[in-house]
Parts: sequence; C-alpha cells; structure tokens
Amino acid sequence: MRKKLIAGNWKMNLNVTDTRKMLSELVEKNLNSEVEALICPPFTSLEAASEILKGTNIKLGAQNVSEYEDGARTGEISTNMLKDLSVSYVIIGHSERRTYYGETDEIVNEKIKRTLSQNLKAVLCVGEDEVERRENRHEEVVKSQLEKGLREISENTEDIVIAYEPIWAIGTGNTCSSEDAESMCKFIRSSVANIFSSEIADNMRILYGGSVKPSNVRELMSNENIDGALVGGASLKAEDFQSLVNFG
Ligand code: G3P
Repeated sequence: MRKKLIAGNWKMNLNVTDTRKMLSELVEKNLNSEVEALICPPFTSLEAASEILKGTNIKLGAQNVSEYEDGARTGEISTNMLKDLSVSYVIIGHSERRTYYGETDEIVNEKIKRTLSQNLKAVLCVGEDEVERRENRHEEVVKSQLEKGLREISENTEDIVIAYEPIWAIGTGNTCSSEDAESMCKFIRSSVANIFSSEIADNMRILYGGSVKPSNVRELMSNENIDGALVGGASLKAEDFQSLVNFG
C-alpha cells in the first residue's frame, strides 16, 4: 500500500518572514495523517521551516542540491547542509532547473546518486513539453529521462519518488486530464519496472504535478497509479495546502 504524498514546491516564493507566517498557520490546522505532507521552501527558509515543523508530521524538503560534497563550489548547497536542517526530501531535475539552468539528465543522475547515498529521499521530476506532447513523443521523452536519471542506481530505491510534471501544465492552469495523468503515471510505473523490477515499481510513489489545486486534487488522486501531487502555486497558502492534504 503506497502512502499518498502531497508535496508543496514553493519555488522562488516566500521569504523567511512569509515562511514563518504560512507555516505557523499550517501547523495549527488539522491534516489527514494518512497522507504524507511535505513542504519544500527556498533554501533561505529551511532553517525557519525546520524550527516550526519540528515535532509535527509535516516533512521538510529542498528544491535542489549539489551533486558534490562540501567544498569549493560557490553558491551551492550540499546534502550535509540539508541534513543538518532536518531536510528529508530533495526535488531533483525539476523542468525549471532543466530549462533555465541547463541541468542535464547526467547531472540529475549524479544528484540522485548523491542524495540517495546520504539517506535522503529523492523526488525525480520528469515530463514532456508542449511540442513533444503535440508530436506524440511524450512517452519516449519521459522514458529517456527515467532511464538516464536512474542509471546505475541499485541501492535505496525505496527512497525514490517520481513526479510526472508535463511542462505545458505547470503554472498555466491547464491541468492534464485525469485520464492522461493516470495513463502517464501507469507508463512511468512500467518503465520503472523495466529499469529496476516490478516489485520496486509497485512500491514506488508516482506523483502528478501541474496546476493541481483544491478543486481538482480529489479526482486526480482517485487514479490507481497516482500516489500524490507536487504542487506549486496552490501550496503557498496554509488553507489551500490543508485542502490539498485533506482531499479525501
Ligand atoms: O513542482 C510543482 C510544479 O512545477 C507545478 O506548479 O504552479 O502548476 O502547481 P503549479
């Protein structure tokens, strides 16, 4: 039985003051404990978030990590630094990092290896763009991202979560239909079975991301192969995040 995971990716939003406000409100709300809740604020807010979330069931995640250990890497953040702040998840290979910061599948693979080796959980993001979808190449694109991103990984596979985020649905209000999202998450599960094994694929959580909001989360979550959501815009307010977690 895969526990549903609702993850908020705040992207480059909410400074430390905003973070304290939002999370202080959130921890006062009732959240369904059968659903795992995860907040991924910007690096600058991790310490404040870590203090506020301490002793709650809400997990803390980072939006990126360096593939290297501590050392001369100006501007980067290591797994060691994240663990020191009680971070347990790291989002890796988000399409915004691939598109704007040139993150290749090879870099994504290195980051996943580093993350897993340090006993952190990795949320690997995959997804096609609008042209690739129009040209009916979405499965081919996602399969390649999975094969390259998960190359030469054999340990701690239970710490991997996949997030299917079609780029054309991110921040646009154009949610992928529930049927298309399910079909891609099912395809991802079969690809993971080919890369690892059916047992690992059956246990792996696969999230959908792209314009998820309180009004559509329930339908998306009713699908057999969708084990949660990675949410941007609708995760920034405590009330909305509560509604997402309590979708049932
Ligand atoms: O990682 C979450 C994401 O890219 C989706 O963003 O704003 O469409 O929910 P949004």
